[in-house]
Amino acid sequence: MLKYAMIGGGPGAFVGAVHRNALALNGQAELVAGCFSRDLDKTRATGAELGLDEDRLYATPEELARLEGGDIDFAVVVTSNEAHYPNVKACLENNIHVMCDKPFTHTSAQAGELVRLARERDLLLGVTYTYAGYPMVRQMREMIARGDIGEIRFVNAEYPQGWLAELLEATGHVQAGWRADPARSGGTLSLGDVGSHIEYLVPHVTGLTLTRLAARLDSLVEGRTLDDNGVVLTEYDSGARGVYWYSQAATGTVNGLRLRVFGDKGGLEWFQEDQDHLRFMPLNEPPRILVRGPADLLPGAMPYSHTPAGHPEGWLMAFANIYRAFCDTLITGAVVDFPTGGDGLRGVRFIEACLESSRRDAAWVNMG
Ligand SMILES: NC(=O)c1ccc[n+]([C@@H]2O[C@H](COP(=O)([O-])OP(=O)(O)OC[C@H]3O[C@@H](n4cnc5c(N)ncnc54)[C@H](O)[C@@H]3O)[C@@H](O)[C@H]2O)c1
Repeated sequence: MLKYAMIGGGPGAFVGAVHRNALALNGQAELVAGCFSRDLDKTRATGAELGLDEDRLYATPEELARLEGGDIDFAVVVTSNEAHYPNVKACLENNIHVMCDKPFTHTSAQAGELVRLARERDLLLGVTYTYAGYPMVRQMREMIARGDIGEIRFVNAEYPQGWLAELLEATGHVQAGWRADPARSGGTLSLGDVGSHIEYLVPHVTGLTLTRLAARLDSLVEGRTLDDNGVVLTEYDSGARGVYWYSQAATGTVNGLRLRVFGDKGGLEWFQEDQDHLRFMPLNEPPRILVRGPADLLPGAMPYSHTPAGHPEGWLMAFANIYRAFCDTLITGAVVDFPTGGDGLRGVRFIEACLESSRRDAAWVNMG
């Protein structure tokens, strides 16, 4: 059993408990220490709820990293974005492997520094791009890799949410508040919050490398300064093209992440809200709905599926699959596929390129 500490995820936090539950589902790691909040009383409240020893609850992440360095196997950083960089750095400097949530850091210089630090110290550094943990996303990746849709021509990815279709940040809503504050979110609201998932998924699933983009970011809700909606035109190394649309002001939508990839022999479509199905559209044949289960899943996707077909697994299990790969790598030393700090760095570069393009009236920006 691995031992881990958590930074962030205190009382009322959104995603910290999801990480803890996902890790518990796998049964590979036990939470032993935490700095769940900047307020020690809140950290103590969460620690007591989770049954942790009081002497392993810390006032600051730096203290946690310094005192737990030799005793834990890894740390999970699930704070608001502005605290990712200093906290991941403190952990790495104390030789602690880290899993951090997205978007990885505010700047690519920070992300590059963390990736370098992890490499120099031979530490694992992961970023929880959760949606890569879904079995049907893995299936899509496997099918594309074996040529089921041929040469990719076009990628169409969208991620609309509607929870910020009103000026929620003006009401004292905690999660909306820091996301809409450039000093805390990192200069973008929805691009970093949901657009970052698209950025990771497309190359992960298709194998394509983004070479240049043109982006237009908008604030659709009156009174908001950061982007809550954006469109990105993309070009890839193979010559394929694409378009991404992300939004948190798409009134009435819930969590509509959708990925469509079209090749010269067929197309594939996956929708997060119908996550156990994958639509396969072979050229000149009727479309088929593939179902998560032994009849349809390829061997590379099968290990991501844990419940019988027709019994939905969901988001928690997708998180758990990311953690399983991370923990398997820690336990066995063999490199298992999970989203890394390098992927996080690429994601921050994407955000910077979109911001630059949008500032220049959607001019094309090379990815370098
Ligand atoms: N992978 C995903 O699908 C996914 C989903 C939701 C959120 N996220 C990411 O997770 C992170 C957290 O988001 P959230 O919605 O849970 O935020 P939140 O505001 O609900 O929770 C953040 C927690 O971090 C704590 N915190 C902040 N700074 C800290 C510090 N310096 N030391 C210790 N604790 C600190 C806060 O007290 C709070 O408990 C963000 O980076 C967000 O982008 C990822």
